[in-house]
Amino acid sequence: MASFPVLLVLLFYTLTGKAIAELTPNFFHQSLTHYLKNSKPNISYETQFFPQLLDHFTFNPQSYKIFYQKYLINKNYWDHGGPIFVYTGNEGNIDWFAANTGFMLDIAPKFRALLVFIEHRFYGESLPFGKDSYKSAETLGYLNSQQALADFAVLIRSLKQNLSSEASPVVVFGGSYGGMLAAWFRLKYPHVAIGAVASSAPILQFDEIIPWTSFYDAVSQDYKDASLNCYEVIKGSWAELQLLYAQRDGLATISGIFRTCKNLQTRYSARDWLWKAFVYTAMANYPTESNFVKQLPAYPVAKMCEIIDGFPPKATKLNRVLAAANLYYNYTGNEKCFDLENGTDTHGLHGWDWQVCTEMVMPLSTSNESMFPAITFEIEELGKFCMNKYGVMPRPHWITTEFGGYRIEQVLKKFGSNIIFSNGMQDPWSRGGVLKNISSNIVAIVTEKGAHHVDFRFAKKDDPDWLVEQRGQEVEIIQRWINDYYADF
Ligand SMILES: *[C@@H]1O[C@H](CO)[C@@H](O)[C@H](O)[C@H]1NC(C)=O
Ligand SMILES: *[C@@H]1O[C@H](CO)[C@@H](O)[C@H](O)[C@H]1NC(C)=O
Ligand SMILES: *[C@@H]1O[C@H](CO)[C@@H](O)[C@H](O)[C@H]1NC(C)=O
Ligand SMILES: *[C@@H]1O[C@H](CO)[C@@H](O)[C@H](O)[C@H]1NC(C)=O
Ligand SMILES: *[C@@H]1O[C@H](CO)[C@@H](O)[C@H](O)[C@H]1NC(C)=O
Repeated sequence: MASFPVLLVLLFYTLTGKAIAELTPNFFHQSLTHYLKNSKPNISYETQFFPQLLDHFTFNPQSYKIFYQKYLINKNYWDHGGPIFVYTGNEGNIDWFAANTGFMLDIAPKFRALLVFIEHRFYGESLPFGKDSYKSAETLGYLNSQQALADFAVLIRSLKQNLSSEASPVVVFGGSYGGMLAAWFRLKYPHVAIGAVASSAPILQFDEIIPWTSFYDAVSQDYKDASLNCYEVIKGSWAELQLLYAQRDGLATISGIFRTCKNLQTRYSARDWLWKAFVYTAMANYPTESNFVKQLPAYPVAKMCEIIDGFPPKATKLNRVLAAANLYYNYTGNEKCFDLENGTDTHGLHGWDWQVCTEMVMPLSTSNESMFPAITFEIEELGKFCMNKYGVMPRPHWITTEFGGYRIEQVLKKFGSNIIFSNGMQDPWSRGGVLKNISSNIVAIVTEKGAHHVDFRFAKKDDPDWLVEQRGQEVEIIQRWINDYYADF
């Protein structure tokens, strides 16, 4: 089982219930440095650390402990007193999100806006207990979305006070889990933020709001749209892998054909490694070359399918699929071998598993229409994993209790305002997003060809028209919120 990303990750459960990988956006310092080196040379943010309260919700003496929360700030475009754009950090290093949210930097000059990226507690360098932060449930207990939202509110108020800019309108931005936080922030702290831009925010991926199979059905649909043969080859490849497993010395054989760095020890690692390649490639099915999770070409799903379809008819399905996975794991051509079983530990984003084991319970199953093997989400299995790892049980109904989600259209129509929910239908997380307009100022912007928060990426000269238009529409809406705010003022 893996976890989801950008936002979101999801835990995928294997049949054994073992957690295999973190999904989403979390990833990697490794690709961040690469990205910073190779693209936009001058992303100029100043790094600051804010003394933040450990626990906003109880008044025990230990609640008053302070930790240092990292944030990035750019005042280059700001007219003093003008708008403040805040990125509500998600499950990873904030520098990585800043590098993948060029949209804010691109539009800052137009709005004369101050830019702030706040790191989420327990990620990156914002560790309340330093190296011991992940040690146990005693420390991890302070990691949750409500504390994170309160952190943002406290930090924003302090910043405005320090800048003598109390009247500046604040707009929050977030992608993936960060997008969920941005939308929830607008609902919980309407006096702090005048609006929220929530990109690829699957706030409906909880409880029983949407079918549990929709995520993997969406991944499958991407491949089917690229080529029916491609979808069928992938769907058929799992049985071939299964046959290899059943052989004597199966793991050794599989280690050989997967070109692993070390002989495989565990049963499902090869399967999950392939699985992950298809999921992340669907999420990153961007119209231009990118380096979000890994370096990939433009429209990588179609590229994978060209590889699969290009084999001679006699080739095995598994060989075709492995060649496609090579595009995901080795596009740069630099990989000497593949580390299938230890690929996830290196990113240092352990916090997401804790969140999945407590409040971020996003049930994912596969249907027989999907190209993946059958898996069924079982809360009992997740519970066993979580008890074993942290000694806690997940609370699958907490998010919908705390933030809602059921009948969202009726609820937000009467109660909310000024939120953009943007989604690209190539992104499997879109199925848990808000895909319909709720009111004149809670707007869904949906693109057929968009992938995981593609609108937040730096504008490029090769961007297709639909993406240019989408960003233009978002800018217009943000402008309207700001104009309304000043008109009331
Ligand atoms: C505001 O100023 C205080 C006092 O110097 C400082 O401790 C705090 O970190 C500042 N707030 C922010 C958001 O930087
Ligand atoms: C990665 O790609 C390069 C260039 O195509 C190739 O030489 C190398 O063998 C590949 N690595 C693996 C582990 O397959
Ligand atoms: C996994 O990677 C970590 C960090 O690189 C390393 O310390 C550890 O020994 C590796 N574990 C295995 C089983 O290879
Ligand atoms: C998929 O599952 C449904 C419900 O269990 C069943 O009715 C249907 O025949 C299955 N379809 C395929 C293609 O196996
Ligand atoms: C929501 O309304 C906007 C116009 O305000 C429109 O551009 C957009 O396409 C609508 N979204 C959906 C999903 O219909």
